[in-house]
Amino acid sequence: MAVTLAFDVYGTLIDTHGVVTSLQTLVGAKAQDFSQTWRDKQLEYSFRRGLMQNYVSFAVCTQQALDYTCAYHRINLNEKQRDSLLAIYRVLPAFNEVKEALEQLKSTDFRLFAFSNGSPDALEDLLAAAGIRDCFLGVVSVDDLKSFKPNPGVYSHFLRKSGATGGSAWLISSNPFDVIGAISAGMKSAWVQRSPEAIFDPWGIEPSIIVKSLTELSQQITG
Ligand code: 2OP
Repeated sequence: MAVTLAFDVYGTLIDTHGVVTSLQTLVGAKAQDFSQTWRDKQLEYSFRRGLMQNYVSFAVCTQQALDYTCAYHRINLNEKQRDSLLAIYRVLPAFNEVKEALEQLKSTDFRLFAFSNGSPDALEDLLAAAGIRDCFLGVVSVDDLKSFKPNPGVYSHFLRKSGATGGSAWLISSNPFDVIGAISAGMKSAWVQRSPEAIFDPWGIEPSIIVKSLTELSQQITG
């Protein structure tokens, strides 16, 4: 059976810190810290929503995390500025190597899917804007289950929707919590360690492989 690859979206295909340039005009030297707080809080909110079984879409987690981040960094944004940041979040850029690497994987008989916390409409817009939507056989969203990664149910949902089995399906992610979630749910997983400073959680659950970028996948994943 052909190997199925489930690509995490935010932080793996798409650079969530692509908003930094726009932030620089709004918050100056705080842009990098602001972006990090925003991303960390967005994920924290998704984890807490999942635990509390109090689902809202990932876009709402993103909006509420932005409001928290403004309060934390004591930044006052008017409605127009807030809306423009949220609009940028819908069209964030892909990392440099992504398009070429996906096209190569697709041409070598891997079954490619996007698999994300994002809602289906947000994912379609984001992947189309980044010019990579056509690389995928399908887009699977946790929104179908009204829960978030790393609930084991969302990884089983991915396997059902993609018609794959755990033994022949890989999650590809830069997010250690996602890699640990997929392996715990019976999938294989590649951790994309984009920076040497990125740390993997010391839980005793290791990635199946570690790559520095998506271009290494075709050599390292054999089945
Ligand atoms: C995603 O699901 C976890 O943000 C990550 O796209």
